[in-house]
Amino acid sequence: MTKENETIVVLGATGQQGGATARALRKDGWNVRAPVRDPASSKSRALVQLGIETVAGDYRDPASLERALEGAYGAFSIQPSSGQPEYGVSDEDELLFGTRFADAAKRAGVRHFVYTSVGGLRPNTGVGHFESKWKIEEHVRASGLSATIVRPTAFMEILLLPHFGLAQGHLSFFVAPDRTMQFIAVEDIGAVVARVFAEPARFVGKTFDIAAESLTGNDLARKISKALGRPFTYARFPAELLAQHPVLARLVELVDEGAATGDGDVATIRELHPAILTFDAWLEKTGKAAIEHGVVRERSS
Ligand SMILES: NC(=O)c1ccc[n+]([C@@H]2O[C@H](COP(=O)([O-])OP(=O)(O)OC[C@H]3O[C@@H](n4cnc5c(N)ncnc54)[C@H](OP(=O)(O)O)[C@@H]3O)[C@@H](O)[C@H]2O)c1
Repeated sequence: MTKENETIVVLGATGQQGGATARALRKDGWNVRAPVRDPASSKSRALVQLGIETVAGDYRDPASLERALEGAYGAFSIQPSSGQPEYGVSDEDELLFGTRFADAAKRAGVRHFVYTSVGGLRPNTGVGHFESKWKIEEHVRASGLSATIVRPTAFMEILLLPHFGLAQGHLSFFVAPDRTMQFIAVEDIGAVVARVFAEPARFVGKTFDIAAESLTGNDLARKISKALGRPFTYARFPAELLAQHPVLARLVELVDEGAATGDGDVATIRELHPAILTFDAWLEKTGKAAIEHGVVRERSS
């Protein structure tokens, strides 16, 4: 196998994880084929500028993804965030998209399949998008594919979302002020996935969390305050908010039980990808400017 002659199909390449993965694989010399909903969009054209092949592809049109998989060596599977009505993807959609793509990859003879799930995943959590990911994982494990499952922990980028309060100088998140949770910068997910594709003998059959660092809520506020040069405070989501949002409340419970905080072996991940960003380094590189200029992501995950 030479990377130059082999193609990896990357779903979600106009998004965060898929984009980071497509860029990292291309940098490593693989041919990368990205099924995109709108090949004329600026995000799709930016992929082409990087030497990534874009083809028309939609999760809701299985034939389009089957065509994209023809002749591919590898495939990277991600599904969009589910269970939030504004994005139009239900938890059932996520499960269908994830299992159907794995089946199509198997039929296409894909030799290394990587599915990205979520950090700290357990069965029977009662949270829709964890249940769907668990079922997709089980499906992939039973599929006969030579597969690796990576489980990214919380994205550092998620902290920039407006409802977590940084624009008001106060961070609210799932974790208790003095308890830890794991984080990863999105670009580093792509770098780790590229390592997985580079070493199939080491990673096929494995499932593991991807994390750069474990941080308490208070650590987050302290590091942000230091980077920005002004005080930020931290508190967990207020009880009134949790009372209005049962899924959020259940997620907080899971975090308290240590079930959704991430199980990443930080030292091993750092060995795989020595340039991985700590939270301080991520703040310096992108987070600080994003907080200062109020740049936030459009979507929540
Ligand atoms: N946020 C976190 O901390 C975190 C941690 C671990 C795991 N996760 C999981 O990560 C996943 C989201 O990953 P992400 O943030 O990388 O996603 P994202 O940035 O929202 O990107 C979603 C991608 O899916 C594409 N897409 C959406 N609907 C499509 C369709 N019908 N057909 C084809 N493509 C479609 C989008 O394309 P367009 O450009 O056309 O919209 C985009 O490329 C979720 O499953 C979430 O649960 C999140």
